[in-house]
Amino acid sequence: MKTRLLLLAFILVLATAACIGWFIWFRGSMTDGTLPLYLTWHDDPTTTMTVCWLSGTPDSPQPHVFYHAKGDDTWHRAVGKARPFPHTGQTINHVDLTGLQPGTRYEFLTSETGEFFTFETLPATLDAPLRFVEGGDAADDFEITDRMNALAGKRDPAFVVLGGDLAYCNGEPGRANRWTTFFQSMHRHLRAPDGRLIPVIVAIGNHEVRLRDKARWPENLPADAKTRNDLSAAFHAAFPFPGDPAFGVIDVGDYLSLVFLDSNHLTPVAGAQTEWLARTLEERRGRPNVLPVYHVPAYPSKNDYDHYTSKDIRKNWVPLFEEAGLRLAFEHHGHTFKITHPIRDGKVDPDGIVYVGDGAWGVKPREVHPVDQTWYLSKAGNIQHLHEVTLEPGRRTVESISIDGETLNTFSQTVP
Ligand SMILES: [Fe+2]
Repeated sequence: MKTRLLLLAFILVLATAACIGWFIWFRGSMTDGTLPLYLTWHDDPTTTMTVCWLSGTPDSPQPHVFYHAKGDDTWHRAVGKARPFPHTGQTINHVDLTGLQPGTRYEFLTSETGEFFTFETLPATLDAPLRFVEGGDAADDFEITDRMNALAGKRDPAFVVLGGDLAYCNGEPGRANRWTTFFQSMHRHLRAPDGRLIPVIVAIGNHEVRLRDKARWPENLPADAKTRNDLSAAFHAAFPFPGDPAFGVIDVGDYLSLVFLDSNHLTPVAGAQTEWLARTLEERRGRPNVLPVYHVPAYPSKNDYDHYTSKDIRKNWVPLFEEAGLRLAFEHHGHTFKITHPIRDGKVDPDGIVYVGDGAWGVKPREVHPVDQTWYLSKAGNIQHLHEVTLEPGRRTVESISIDGETLNTFSQTVP
């Protein structure tokens, strides 16, 4: 009898230890205690907000968000959708808040957290300077990512644009948990000085897509939505915009259009996407800030100038940019800092387009082409950075800031 009691006690101790061990493992694998919650847009940023978060279980109840405008005692409830987050056993929740007031601060909490958060919608008109931060190649090294997110938050931007290569998961099941860390880094560090969460809008990059036979790209890019989604399931689950196909435009009032493009990752540069781009630019002719964002650069500071995608972009998109009178484009992928000379018709022209890049947010930087021997480069360097863009009536300014907070470059452009 005594032996059996001892055995039972031993089993209980073992079971308890296993439970504690599992819990510690689960917490460690799922979270460091930071909530994987972030904000984004797929609709009008002046009147909507999309609240997204990961749940640690595969079966999440219907998610909802309670919210109210600061200073208004009336609370509203919005119900969203939950779906499995690929290869993680977790659930991704998206809740759209609609019918919001422009330029207004809101407070909210979700159905799964008792913590209150705040955000601000964008203003409907550009009456005061509006600042946003731009970068790319966001999270190959999370230690660097945390620092850059914190730097971006300190700059107090209205939102952040990330131009592809986000969590570096490559669509691989074994790397899917990197998304959790990516969301947690945004949640913890990408905070304005007043504590509000800063929304993020993203473009697609090569590391959002499962690698295939690259030698056959871009001719062999998938023609159907199911294959595109299979190759990039977590990216599509995480961000409702750009969705499928992975290009689209976000219009903000009558003063800003961010044109997100897919540089041969799931959609060929040439063909239907270029035709869409032509229509999109034509419809926005005369708007003061029409800004393309895409991953692979037309004018690379690190990568090969004759890379097929760079050539595709220079052949198909750049003439449309120039014809539409654009003056600024955001490029990435090189893990370098870059400012080009203004370029038009394949040469330096003061009325041309300045291409800024090349994506070194959360990555180890790479060496650049020699600036004095590369006709289109004005400045370049192997340094992590962000680009802070300030929009004002009649003018915009781009200040590039290193991870140490040092100003690397500043230039202004007059706008219609
Ligand atoms: Fe890339």
